[in-house]
Amino acid sequence: MQADLERVLFDQATIVRRLDEIAAQISSDYRDRELTVIAILNGSLIFMADLLRRIPLPLRLDCLSVASYLGGLQTSGEVIFRQIALPDVAGRHILLLDDILDSGTTISAIREKLQTASPKSIRVCVLLRKLKERKQPADAHYIGFDIADEFVVGYGLDYCERYRNLPCIGVLKKELVAS
Ligand code: IMP
Ligand code: MG
Repeated sequence: MQADLERVLFDQATIVRRLDEIAAQISSDYRDRELTVIAILNGSLIFMADLLRRIPLPLRLDCLSVASYLGGLQTSGEVIFRQIALPDVAGRHILLLDDILDSGTTISAIREKLQTASPKSIRVCVLLRKLKERKQPADAHYIGFDIADEFVVGYGLDYCERYRNLPCIGVLKKELVAS
């Protein structure tokens, strides 16, 4: 699998070192507030598991399943909620976890939807943020790493549902990506 990468951007040791820092920041910020984490499936699963075990606070965990990429490289622009019942967010401090902030469509659609259910606060935490212009005014409060605008896989991120279980994050070889 790793042979399919053109380049490794972050190895496992680098990722978990950064997770230690983000977890410490989140733990400090939410020490007096009850935290509800909402992980966006499937991309944030590996990140979520490693991050949450570094946060020694009482917290609730919910998941939300959305689709916007439909398996390819480009976002379809439309976000489909696969789950009918939304997690209970009323009066709660919500931390949304996602793998990557790309166009921002996913995060802003989810934020908007959850906002209608009267949470006390919403913050966003992403493992990766692509440095690019965004049409959607979406940003994250906690960011693992900023990266160039390239297609990456591993550590939860997929290409056509593959590579999620790679322990590192890397750029896929161009010849493996259908254009
Ligand atoms: P956005 O709505 O364009 O911000 O895209 C968010 C979703 O698209 C992420 O949660 C990922 O599932 C997927 N995505 C965006 N960029 C990449 C990438 O480089 N590799 C793998 N998945 C990506
Ligand atoms: Mg995906």
